[in-house]
Amino acid sequence: MLNIDKIRADFPILNRKVHGKPLVYLDNGATSQTPQSVINTIVDYYSNYNANIHRGVHTLSQEATDKYEEARIKIQQHFNAKHAYEIILTSGTTESINIVASGFASILKEGDEVIVSALEHHSNIVPWQMMCEKTGAVLKVLPMDEEGALRMDLFDELLTNKTKLVFCNHVSNALGTINPIEEIIHRAHKFGAYVLIDGAQACPHLKPNVQELDVDFYVTSAHKMCGPTGVGMLYGKQELLEMLPPYQGGGEMIATVTFEKTTYAGLPHKFEAGTPNICGGIAFGAAIDYMNSVGFDNIQTQENELLMYATNELLKVDGLKIYGTAYKTSVISFNIDGIHPYDIGAILDKLGIAVRTGHHCAQPIMDYFKIPGTVRASFSFYNTKEEVDLLVSAVKKAKAMLS
Ligand code: ALA
Repeated sequence: MLNIDKIRADFPILNRKVHGKPLVYLDNGATSQTPQSVINTIVDYYSNYNANIHRGVHTLSQEATDKYEEARIKIQQHFNAKHAYEIILTSGTTESINIVASGFASILKEGDEVIVSALEHHSNIVPWQMMCEKTGAVLKVLPMDEEGALRMDLFDELLTNKTKLVFCNHVSNALGTINPIEEIIHRAHKFGAYVLIDGAQACPHLKPNVQELDVDFYVTSAHKMCGPTGVGMLYGKQELLEMLPPYQGGGEMIATVTFEKTTYAGLPHKFEAGTPNICGGIAFGAAIDYMNSVGFDNIQTQENELLMYATNELLKVDGLKIYGTAYKTSVISFNIDGIHPYDIGAILDKLGIAVRTGHHCAQPIMDYFKIPGTVRASFSFYNTKEEVDLLVSAVKKAKAMLS
């Protein structure tokens, strides 16, 4: 059982006011807040050992390199990757997906097939469309149902021996649906297809085990899991990362360079051209330490309680509809009859409550429901039932003002 007051004291931002009201931060799906231990790590880096890594013989550079590589090992251990060099540090989930998609653009051939789920964020759709445009590969879509669950009964009909890749999120950012990725991976592998799982919305809530999942690629961002923005991870099985060509050319990703020919560095450096987000990578490690100190069992217990309580209370509001009722994480996407989601979001902001409104970079999901967007409240373990009460009373107020 979490001591929520103690947890909240770890997050200085939760004390601030917005429009004179205490902040109620329910936009954790967009980005989570940052605990003091992670902020301290960032301050310590810039105060004490800011230097470029893998390059200098001097003390600061060596200290920074050691901390950066320690963070990679923390990330490896957290996700249970077999090797630290299977963890590529990137600028975030989007870049991680683009590295894989651009690599396969030089491997796939016309007529090859790839499957994307209907529940994807644009970042797990557009890079693959670009790859298909370059290669002539065909993009097929695994549909969803009214509850926001994937139509797994149709998956086998889409899989053929031409299927090369399947991409799916672990958790939908717009609805919170937890997808049956074990089954997706297992069935795709039977056809020899590789699977990339976008874990950006899952990792704040649960701890994926990439070896147990037998997933080929797993990607995520630090800033959804108490870390800073601008840093994330691409996990790939060693043989697949070795098969893919580099994404960007530059310093650090080479073994030798002459004007006639360049040879590339081994993993992970082949995919880490240029000076990386050193401080961000180190802080990503600190964020993982923090999340583990809270404990994922505790996180899930607290968030499930908030999800159930908020669902029950919100459904008491006349005309309120929740989109996505399948097995899910602590995300509630909703609309009120006849009111634009943006208008509700703007009034909630005036009352100190931060939610996201719009299509959540998942337009195909909105098209499925024939709506322009939703109001999305996304809860974290540091949220409270009192905050849910404030949300519900603010939604009622907004409804009264806008009806
Ligand atoms: N992908 C983030 C969200 O769902 C930004 O809000």
